[in-house]
Amino acid sequence: MKRIDWAQLASLLKARRFSREEPPAPEKRPRHIAFIMDGNGRWAQKRGLPRSAGHAAGTEALRAIIRACDDLKIEYMSIYAFSTENWNRPVDEVSTLMNLILRYFVSEIDELDEKGVRIRILGDMRAFPIEQRQALEQAQVRTAHNDGLKLNIALNYGGRAELVRAAQKLGEQCARGETQPDAIDADAISAQLYTAGQPDVDLLIRTGGEERLSNFLLWQTWYAEIIFDSTYWPDFDRARLIHDLNIFASRDRRFGRVKRA
Ligand code: FPP
Repeated sequence: MKRIDWAQLASLLKARRFSREEPPAPEKRPRHIAFIMDGNGRWAQKRGLPRSAGHAAGTEALRAIIRACDDLKIEYMSIYAFSTENWNRPVDEVSTLMNLILRYFVSEIDELDEKGVRIRILGDMRAFPIEQRQALEQAQVRTAHNDGLKLNIALNYGGRAELVRAAQKLGEQCARGETQPDAIDADAISAQLYTAGQPDVDLLIRTGGEERLSNFLLWQTWYAEIIFDSTYWPDFDRARLIHDLNIFASRDRRFGRVKRA
């Protein structure tokens, strides 16, 4: 008789329990979720594949998570697709990412538009090749009047660069006499960010097991709950998202206040 592998059984049962998790009630869900989609390279390496295969698999995971967020009626979703620091990766990896981004926008735009997704690019698009820039700009213009999921895609984005840009804009306004230095408050700074008009991030999920912000939405995450999920991004799916949403729902958010008795 074949012996039972208890460790395997336990992990199968855990996976089953995990995939049956129900999402938290709508009022317990975050309005704005941000994702640092980390672990593509390690996912590929573990399978003996090139890093580019990890990014391609990561793009598939992204498709599924956008659908899941839309389905779960999340209002705002921000993803870190390419940072100001990512230009320092090997040339062929940067070129793979550029191609995936372009292909993604070309192949997904109809479905996203149909679902009412509104796309906003966070970051300086001037650094992108012309083809990519046009696709990104068209995606923003085409979806500008949609009122479904607001999808922020951070490309050539850095939190510090975003704050420097905001400070420069406010400095210019002061120089033109349109505002005074002492009239600059937190709302005035928020209004100069790429995310102007949007609520701050409620939940930041970083996959891949690393525990840092890596220059992502430094201002907007000031009171965000953070979940460092060890899942590599290509394996991150709807079930894992729901699992993390339940962790978020169980957290006590006090925003610096004391807990009421
Ligand atoms: C980090 O994993 C991931 C990135 C730098 C790129 C994320 C991009 C995608 C998921 C797909 C492309 C995006 C769009 C909008 C289509 P890593 O390479 O640093 O992984 P590692 O830490 O395991 O090396």
